[in-house]
Amino acid sequence: MNNLIDIMQLSVEEIDELIATALDIIADPDKYAESCKRKKLATLFFEPSTRTRLSFEAAMYELGGQVLGFSAANSSSAAKGESVADTVRTVGCYADVIAMRHPKEGAPLVATRTAGVPVINAGDGGHNHPTQTLADLLTIYRKKGKFSGLTIGLCGDLKFGRTVHSLICAMSRYEGVKFVMISPEELRVPRYLITDVIDRKGIPYEETTSLEEAMPKLDILYMTRVQRERFFNEADYLRLKDSYVLTPEKLVPAKSDLIVMHPLPRVNEISVAVDADPRACYFDQVLNGKYMRMALILKLLEVKV
Ligand code: NCD
Repeated sequence: MNNLIDIMQLSVEEIDELIATALDIIADPDKYAESCKRKKLATLFFEPSTRTRLSFEAAMYELGGQVLGFSAANSSSAAKGESVADTVRTVGCYADVIAMRHPKEGAPLVATRTAGVPVINAGDGGHNHPTQTLADLLTIYRKKGKFSGLTIGLCGDLKFGRTVHSLICAMSRYEGVKFVMISPEELRVPRYLITDVIDRKGIPYEETTSLEEAMPKLDILYMTRVQRERFFNEADYLRLKDSYVLTPEKLVPAKSDLIVMHPLPRVNEISVAVDADPRACYFDQVLNGKYMRMALILKLLEVKV
């Protein structure tokens, strides 16, 4: 069974193929307009979402398929106490592919055991978010034309930010990559990513609390939201939430070809004044996410166009 639970399930070659498909979709969308005719995608969202769920749905519609699903746990039988395993076994009777978001780490992996159809992890707790990484990779590729030799600044909530975790894994496979991890002490990147991914591959990295010091070195600045829903107490969230706020002034020492990324939603981390800067790419990520999800659905459903 084809699933996408962790970005590392895709080889570098498979990522290249997905990017090639996405670029072909962008160049000739009509060619793909009926490629998933009579196929159904189910979006099972046990946690809030705007972009991920709607981009999956838009992706399936643009492939000529149909969508069903729910957008909140309290509108499904989860509210009655049904297990994830039973819910997806049921949905697998109705749909050809499932995209699932859940607050518990590992829930989409559990879903693969009973779904009977491909399952895509659309975000599991503070763990992983592989399809956001696909959006991020296409954005980097379209802006930079390469993945190797880039210095990537990751800023904000690196502890709970699942998009950061998947992006580190994906980028760790390219030559000459460096990471600059900018966060408050309490929100540093989980140690397993340092030991199992970054150190294991001998990738140069630094951890700092200073966005100002890091700025001139960066080719990519990936801002993130402090993940309020994963905090154990509100006081900690309130203390940390505005640790980093990107403004046009802070971008003055940055490279002229820096790209500023953010998985969105933003709360206060990027001032709206930055949106007018040509280096701001976060709304490009939104659109690229739809194309990469189209490419992924085609791959998982083994549709040849
Ligand atoms: C992210 C997520 O859900 O992890 N959003 C998204 O899918 N683009 C980031 C976030 O919620 O902060």
